Amino acid sequence: MLSVRDVTTAYQGLVAISNVSIEVEKGEIVCVAGANGAGKSTLLKSIAGAERPRAGSVTFDGSRIDGLAQHLITARGIAYVPENRRLFPRLSVRDNLRLGSYLYRSESNREEPLEFVFKLFPRLSERLEQRAETLSGGEQQMLAIGRALMTRPRLLMLDEPSQGIMPKLVDEIFQAVKRIRDAGMTVLIVEQRMAECLEIADRAYILQTGRVLMNGKAAEIAVNPDVRRAYLGL
Ligand SMILES: Nc1ncnc2c1ncn2[C@@H]1O[C@H](COP(=O)(O)OP(=O)(O)O)[C@@H](O)[C@H]1O
Ligand SMILES: [Mg+2]
Repeated sequence: MLSVRDVTTAYQGLVAISNVSIEVEKGEIVCVAGANGAGKSTLLKSIAGAERPRAGSVTFDGSRIDGLAQHLITARGIAYVPENRRLFPRLSVRDNLRLGSYLYRSESNREEPLEFVFKLFPRLSERLEQRAETLSGGEQQMLAIGRALMTRPRLLMLDEPSQGIMPKLVDEIFQAVKRIRDAGMTVLIVEQRMAECLEIADRAYILQTGRVLMNGKAAEIAVNPDVRRAYLGL
């Protein structure tokens, strides 16, 4: 479904990711794990059109998308929840969700994803009139994911959804990711919390200082002795 080939992305001449290649098949949860500064966010930005790769290609459903404007990539069916979530803080939960569905104007199309979002995160349906800025960190992350789902994506990309969230809600978010996949979507998630991410993922890549260090089945990476020592503190 998604094929990233030899992508190199730099900021003002400083290379952040170098020759990165990843594949995502339809229906998978793929986790890209790595330490702070490894290039995880840069990878997602390079796919979402928020940064333009200096070299390499990104192909989605058989067509090249690198170089396309970000909104055109969204329109192709890729939803992206960035690290900082980019909610509209002064707007209500309801209006944040509504803004997510701007691509799908007909009411009938809007109801279906909204119902799914409410089933996934019942907390949001209880807080429809609350301003986004008054939600807890975990609830804001739920809203950001919910808003992304309102675009009815085929591929959902999440940048460290566990960041700044209390442990109880972290688990809720990871479980929601599984349910999103079970509902027929494909998920690419980047995370520093490798253990939890490997638990829900089908396959994983480990990114280290801008390069792919290792990739394989999540269950195999989770028991790899080098990974356990270096990343899982075991
Ligand atoms: N906007 C930016 N300008 C300059 N350098 C950046 C910018 N964003 C990220 N970098 C650098 O690129 C590298 C990878 O960063 P990032 O993709 O944010 O990693 P991660 O998400 O894994 O923490 C880091 O060295 C970081 O300092
Ligand atoms: Mg990051």
